[in-house]
This record gives sequence, structure tokens and C-alpha cells, in this order.
Amino acid sequence: MKKFEIFLITSPGLEKALVEEVREAGFAKPKMMPGGVRFRGNWHDVWRANLELRGAVKVLARIGSFSAMSLGALEKRARDFDWGQFLRRDIPVKVEVTTQKSKIYHQGAAAERIEKILREDVGMAIDPDAAVVLKARIDDNLVTLSIDTSGESLHKRGHKAAVAKAPMRETMAALFLRQMGFDGSQTVFDPMCGSGTFVIEAAEIAAGLRPGRSRTFAFEHLATFDADVWATMRQVSALTAPACQFFGADRDAGAVTSSRANATRAGVADFTDFSQGKAEEIAPPTAAPGIVIVNPPYGSRISNKGHLYGLHSGLGMALKARFSGWRVGIVTTEAGLARATGLPLLEPGPSVSHGGLRVRLFQTDPLP
Ligand SMILES: C[S@@+](CC[C@H](N)C(=O)[O-])C[C@H]1O[C@@H](n2cnc3c(N)ncnc32)[C@H](O)[C@@H]1O
Repeated sequence: MKKFEIFLITSPGLEKALVEEVREAGFAKPKMMPGGVRFRGNWHDVWRANLELRGAVKVLARIGSFSAMSLGALEKRARDFDWGQFLRRDIPVKVEVTTQKSKIYHQGAAAERIEKILREDVGMAIDPDAAVVLKARIDDNLVTLSIDTSGESLHKRGHKAAVAKAPMRETMAALFLRQMGFDGSQTVFDPMCGSGTFVIEAAEIAAGLRPGRSRTFAFEHLATFDADVWATMRQVSALTAPACQFFGADRDAGAVTSSRANATRAGVADFTDFSQGKAEEIAPPTAAPGIVIVNPPYGSRISNKGHLYGLHSGLGMALKARFSGWRVGIVTTEAGLARATGLPLLEPGPSVSHGGLRVRLFQTDPLP
């Protein structure tokens, strides 16, 4: 099967964690790029990447490239392109264009030329809400064509109904767990679990549940799709019962209810345990030490900050008093808040974009 370039998008700052995941998953020679990871593979690799990778937000398939110095040249090259290899005439498509450092500078005009060819020469419908998105990036007069093979962002695992305030994206949660060295064999406890993202991701990893098992993908609408091969690839092997439990707590009763509902839908209710309680009063859920990972409230307004320092200090005191041997990871926007825990923090991880904010993972070694 022919190979081409596959690009995995992730949140900037998490490229290194993603490239490690991609390498471990057995994809050939992945390379880090700003905003993601690229490697060469075939369509089966595209499907498997969508199904199995926890840290990728999107999987793009690079289907071709050519140079074009004018809209006329773009139209001609688009007319010569063999779209039928990839796109189906009966499935509508949306075209998105970005340009930089190029003679073609008008993104809308460039999109119109490609849409015109797809509509008039290929006979496809153009629809802004189409499940299939064709991306043309024009950089230095080179047009690179990619198809977004994922569709909805891959952080939408397809089994989360209840969302609490400010949820962590599943893709980021998985990569932060990886940065903490979580491999499925350690107990995980999130004392401010919200909708349960860290706990459920950890339980899924431990149980060998693939992140894309409950959802559909844009690649199912492409000409390259083979339903039989996909059905075989999706076949579920027996669930591995994890060797440990995964715990969440939150002071908000609604968050606890949401977490339980989400864990049930994800099929990990038997390995997870959620309870209501204050972070300042936590005790270790197991005798053997594990990992505490937490994403406390940030509070964007200055007026909110005061009580947040108190909250972090209270969390830190509980951890120092009762969590000897546990490793702690705090995902927060502000070093000052992480420091307010009074925990012995290591050098923080890279700054990661998260919904208009920048967060970092602050970790400790096992607590004394
Ligand atoms: C940023 S959210 C966590 C989001 C979570 N990581 C998720 O993915 O849904 C912070 C959570 O901390 C909880 N919280 C705030 N103060 C708390 C306290 N003193 N003790 C326990 N939980 C608290 C809030 O109810 C909220 O669910």
C-alpha cells in the first residue's frame, strides 16, 4: 500500500509527549514538528492512529502538493489532480485554505477556485458543515493538500455525556499522565476531578481500552475506506482488568455524579471510585503510593486569586502530611499557584495552550 505523510496535530507544548506515544504505538520514524508529529504511513496507519493514539487532536493525511504562483495556476493544478482517488462524489466536502509568504494571499479566493473544480469538474457538493474537510495550506507558493481524517476533534472520545466546568481535554490529560510516567500500572488519584477526565483516561489506559472505540471518523466517508479491514481493526480484544484502582474526588456533588456517569459510559466504572470531599482533607485512597494528578481551578480574574492561594496551600498541606511516597502533578496556569502548595516542585514541563490559556505541569518526586 502506498505511503504518504501523516500529520498528527496536538496542543503546542505537547509535541514531545506525543512523539513518544507515536513511537511506542509502533508507527515508523515519527518526527516532532511545531504543533504536532509527522510520519509516513498508509491508510491503515491513518485509521489505527485515529483509533489508538490518545494524544493526537486530529490526524491529517497529506494527499498531494504542487506549486502555484497565481489563482489561475492553482485552478489548473486542481483540475489535473486525481480527486477521485481520495474523495467520493456522493459525499459533500468543505474546503479550508491558509496562505502565508505566497503570491496567492487571498484565502477565500483560493478556496473558491478549489471548490469550483470540485463542484464543476468532479461533481461534488460543497457544504460548510460537511463531515469531510479538505485543507489546502499555501506556504511559500507551495500548495499542500490534506484531508482531516478525524472529523470531530479526537479529544471527543465519544462516551462523555456529562461535562463539568472547565474540563481538561482528554488528549491533554493523556499526555500529562504520560509526562508523569504513568504506564497503567500505578494508582491515580485526582482530588479535584471535575468530570473525571484524568481518572477515566488513566483507567482506560490501564484496561487497554482504545480511545476511539466509541466514535466515528471522517475517514469512513473517503474513497480509500475499506469497511471490512476497519471492522477487523476495531474488533475488541478481551478487557485487561487493571492491577489497580483509579480515584477521583471533588467538593462538588454534581462533579462526582458526572464523573461516575462518564466512567460508566466509558466502561471503566469497575476500576474507578469517585467520592465527594474537600481537597484540603484528602487521605490516600490506597496504602501503596501512586500518582496524584490535579488541575485545580485557575480563576482568570484577579479578585478570584486570593482564595486560590489558600486552596493550593490547603491541598499542599494535606499532601505533605499524608501522601509520603506519592508523586504529585499539578496542571495550572500560574507558577505562583503551584508554589503555594509548598511542595518540592521539579522544573516545570513546557507551557501548553489550553483554551486560550497557557498551562504547565508541575511535578514532584515521591514525597518524603
Ligand atoms: C478546573 S476543574 C477540574 C476539571 C477536571 N480536570 C476535568 O477534566 O473535568 C477544578 C475542580 O476543582 C473542584 N474544586 C474546587 N475547590 C475544591 C476543593 N476545595 N476541594 C475539592 N474540589 C474542589 C471544582 O469543583 C472543579 O470541579
